[in-house]
Formats: sequence, structure tokens, C-alpha cells
Amino acid sequence: MTSPSDVADRRIVKSLYEQLVPIRALVHLVRNRLIREKGAAGWRSCYFQNYHTSRATTAFFELVEREASRLPEKPVKFLEWLHLHKLEEAGEETMFREDLLTLGYRNEQIDSSLPDEVILDMFGRQMALVVCKHPFALLGFLLVTECLPSNISAVQNEIASLGISPRAISTIRYHAKEDIQHREPIFDLIELYAKDQRIYELVYFAAASTLVGWGLFFDKVISNPKPQAG
Ligand SMILES: [Fe+2]
Ligand SMILES: [Fe+2]
Repeated sequence: MTSPSDVADRRIVKSLYEQLVPIRALVHLVRNRLIREKGAAGWRSCYFQNYHTSRATTAFFELVEREASRLPEKPVKFLEWLHLHKLEEAGEETMFREDLLTLGYRNEQIDSSLPDEVILDMFGRQMALVVCKHPFALLGFLLVTECLPSNISAVQNEIASLGISPRAISTIRYHAKEDIQHREPIFDLIELYAKDQRIYELVYFAAASTLVGWGLFFDKVISNPKPQAG
């Protein structure tokens, strides 16, 4: 369970990733079990929830921007980055939806579905951290959702073994390439703002909560006797 190779000279980011190793390892184990026991249906359930988090991300960024703009000392660098990052992430929902349609979901099914309640809890917690603690909690969420892009050959091997079409992972393929660039400014912001111990702890907590939320969801899918529709 390694940190990204480009964090060697980033002391704070490196420290956060080191602290997250046990949780990441545990979540990884649970996910492996899910794939072993639930196969393609389990994989599809996870991808469907990924779509939901992607769909909520634009609104989440708007919330963070509003909260950060209200701070007595405006975090100018953070707000400038967020403005650009919103543009970088715009349009992903459409790409994701295409993947879901390739996987066999129907538009009506996608539109009428809600995120799983475990994912809702995870996302709600992130929003509460932003509003009740500090908008920099977003950096913790992104440290694990945006800064650890998938190894594309591992994903390709996995879906091939599950009989899932390679055409269904255009969003993963896109992120594996683009997020290598997207994470650089996120790491820079963490180095800048998490020198403050309270921000460091908040970023860690937001990152750990995100991982735990996904781990709980994987566990729920494993325990579910029937494959989930969504
Ligand atoms: Fe993205
Ligand atoms: Fe990204």
C-alpha cells in the first residue's frame, strides 16, 4: 500500500498517506473479498455508487466554495484552484452515464435511483465537515478519491476476469491519465495549509472517513444475499 511516487518531497502529504496505510489496506482487503464473492454484480454495484458520488461532486464543490468565501481570511490560493478544478471535473457525469448504459443500466433507472444509504452517510459527513469544521476538509476527501488514480492495467485485468466490457470503463481510463495532473495542485495546497495541525487533523479525518465509508459499503454488498440492482 504505497503512496504516489511523486510525494517523496512533500512532507505533509507523505505523512498523511503513511497514516492512512492501515485503513487503505483494510478497505483493499474488503474490496478484494467483494470481487471474489460477488463477481461482476459486485463490481457493477460499486461503479454505480461511484457514479452517484461523481454526480454530487459539482454541488459539493459549490458548497465548499461558498463556505471558503465566507472565511474571515479568504484562502485565495484555495479558491483559485477550486474555480479551475470545477472546470476540470465538469462534464464527467455524462461520461460516467455512458459507462453505466454500456453496463446495461437504463436512463430511467439511473435517474430514479438514490445513492446507497452508506454512501449517503459518507458524503453527508464530508459536507458536514466542510460546513461545521472547515472547507479544507475537501482536501482530505480528494486525497483519497482524486489523488490515487487506478492502475489501468490492473483494472483491465480485473474486468476481463469478470467478463465486463472494456468499453464500460471510459471514466476510469480518463481518470487514470488526468488525475495524475489534477493531484499536483491538491498536494501543493495540502503542503501549504496543513502545516496548521488542526487542518492536518481535519484533512486526515476527512480522508479516513471517506475510506471507511467505502469500506462499509463494500462490506454491505458482501453481506447482501442478492446482487443489488443499483
Ligand atoms: Fe474526476
Ligand atoms: Fe480529476
